[in-house]
Amino acid sequence: MSEELWTDVDRYISEALVAPDAALNAALEDSAAAGLPSIHVSPNQGKLLMLLARAHRARRILEIGTLGGYSTIWLARSLVEGGRVVTLELSASYAAVAANNLARAGLREMVEIRTGDARASLTDLLTEGQPPFDFIFIDADKENYPGYFESALRLSRPGTMIIADNVVRKGSIVDSRSEDLNVQGVQHFYKLLRNESRVIATAIQTVGSKGHDGFAIALVTGM
Ligand code: SAH
Ligand code: DHB
Ligand code: MG
Repeated sequence: MSEELWTDVDRYISEALVAPDAALNAALEDSAAAGLPSIHVSPNQGKLLMLLARAHRARRILEIGTLGGYSTIWLARSLVEGGRVVTLELSASYAAVAANNLARAGLREMVEIRTGDARASLTDLLTEGQPPFDFIFIDADKENYPGYFESALRLSRPGTMIIADNVVRKGSIVDSRSEDLNVQGVQHFYKLLRNESRVIATAIQTVGSKGHDGFAIALVTGM
């Protein structure tokens, strides 16, 4: 099977099941025009995030890695009345694109964008004594996934769902001798998931318009 076929199948699925959406399309167009890398989740993956957060009746969602806010729009659309997304982005210029994309989607008031290194923003969230999040999407630099997961756990309650993107990276994770810090970060993240008694976790690999990759899903059961 080729990447071209995976992309065709993703297009088929999206045309069948993901309604055309002006705000989402405009978000991608403006992100590309502003020079942001095309590393957002695919439409059917975005809808999966929305569906899972909706099934979970999430009221407080944390996203680590905003980019142009494409996944953020999906997550914000899952929210119950009065719900809120906090999203963390290193780049101030990416965050500005995201803010505009969220405003056009009519979601700006539901989303707080915190600019700067997510490690510092997570420390801030912890010291502010924020109430726990119901749903957490980890999608920033892969090297720091272990730390993001540990912070996510500290910002969780029993029942919180934690999802991490890009946990397969074209299969590179099976290379135990990899010197790529991103790969090592994801491998360390798997180790934390395996050894963490407070979560039930699994991962699934995916193919599609974003190549061969995968999601990890962890449900916090105890604290
Ligand atoms: N969730 C987005 C894609 C995120 S891409 C979507 O699917 O639409 C990863 C993002 O993480 C990039 O925008 C990158 O700037 C950001 N990032 C990388 N390192 C970071 C860090 N240390 N802290 C916060 N954000 C970071
Ligand atoms: C890439 C893809 C992603 O989904 C991401 O969050 C970061 C990087 C990539 O393909 O390089
Ligand atoms: Mg990703």
